[in-house]
Amino acid sequence: MNILILGGGGREHALAWATLQNPKCDKLIVAPGNAGIAQIAECASLDINDGGAVAEFAQENAIDMVIVGPEAPLAAGVADRLREAGLLVFGPSAAAARLEASKSFTKEICDAAQAPTAAYGHFTDAEAAKDYVRTQGAPIVVKADGLAAGKGVIIAQTTQEAEEAIDDMFGGAFGGAGAEVVIEEFMTGEEASFFVLVDRETCLPIGTAQDHKRVGEGDTGLNTGGMGAYSPAPVLSDEIAQKALDEIVRPTMTEMAKRGMPYQGVLYVGLMIENGAPRLVEYNVRFGDPEGQVLMLRLGAQALDLMQACAEGRLDQAQVNWASDHAMTVVLAANGYPGSYEKDTVIKGLGDLPEDSHHMMFHAGTSEKDGQIVATGGRVLNATARGATLQEARDRAYALVDGVDWPEGFVRRDIGWRAL
Ligand code: AMP
Ligand code: GLY
Repeated sequence: MNILILGGGGREHALAWATLQNPKCDKLIVAPGNAGIAQIAECASLDINDGGAVAEFAQENAIDMVIVGPEAPLAAGVADRLREAGLLVFGPSAAAARLEASKSFTKEICDAAQAPTAAYGHFTDAEAAKDYVRTQGAPIVVKADGLAAGKGVIIAQTTQEAEEAIDDMFGGAFGGAGAEVVIEEFMTGEEASFFVLVDRETCLPIGTAQDHKRVGEGDTGLNTGGMGAYSPAPVLSDEIAQKALDEIVRPTMTEMAKRGMPYQGVLYVGLMIENGAPRLVEYNVRFGDPEGQVLMLRLGAQALDLMQACAEGRLDQAQVNWASDHAMTVVLAANGYPGSYEKDTVIKGLGDLPEDSHHMMFHAGTSEKDGQIVATGGRVLNATARGATLQEARDRAYALVDGVDWPEGFVRRDIGWRAL
């Protein structure tokens, strides 16, 4: 099989690595890829949000299946365009990708499916939104409706903070994403992510994970795209996962199919768990980053078979071979992230790290310049390891971190603290 993966972060490096573990893969191209991906696959420069360009490229390169990594091409309808061109695609249609691209849409689907989630209001003008905040009180959560690169959520501790957030959003702070606003009840509990492959109404869980969104140790400081993750998430017990499947995932997927927009691809189910009851925080229509890295290391070669079964609509015949292992990924970020940071700093020591089914240093934001690997993003590397216990996975992941010589980067030293 010839496979094309769209994206160029740590998640896509992990997807590429897992795909290559499977002997079914004859040729792999990743667009645009990065310096780490270039060491294992061919990279191509391509506008991945342009469905026509991707379809043409796929046909010219005799691609059999396209795996879409990030949400932007999905929301832009790239999967639809590829399916029209007769290609096999792993990733939902633009209509189904609204589960991530529009928060009010997701809330409406949850209402129709009676899926447990935070109480909410949906507003198109600031005054009505502020009235609602005043009747509800704080803490309260203000969200830009559209895609805002993970930045459109404000947890307001006071009604004044909420009103300011409302003004910012309607004032254009998040561009078009903030033209509509969703205001939600603040939920308490422990967060975890549940990953489910979906092909119409068939749902196949493929793992759980927990990430660390805050930049600082002890989960303090600014929000980031994720500073590390581990899998499985102990808080998401089999019983709670079953509840999430029965009460949230299946009913919403049935509702999507009923509305003529069946889901196909991986569904990232962000849950808040309190007193044994899961409630939906958000859906994403892709693997998490960095959660995808730990899932891929655990699934290995079977990831490709599962994604293919999902894309071909035969998920009902697929099954996951579970291992009782643990994985952890630690993000190496550029000093200053998530604020401004220096670019093109040189990273050394990568060539001496172990690379096998228990250790992988995935690249998230790197390029090659004059024969050296340089950092080009905020989140730059993902030290990812697997072990029989979480402690073993943790020790291996931090050993990878310590093998890297990059004074301009930092890590959190406490990834996994809740579970260890
Ligand atoms: P979202 O983009 O919707 O996932 O929100 C980003 C983060 O904000 C989530 O991962 C939660 O940590 C937090 N969050 C979002 N909505 C709520 C809520 N209703 N109650 C508490 N925390 C929330
Ligand atoms: N790590 C959070 C996300 O991928 O959305």
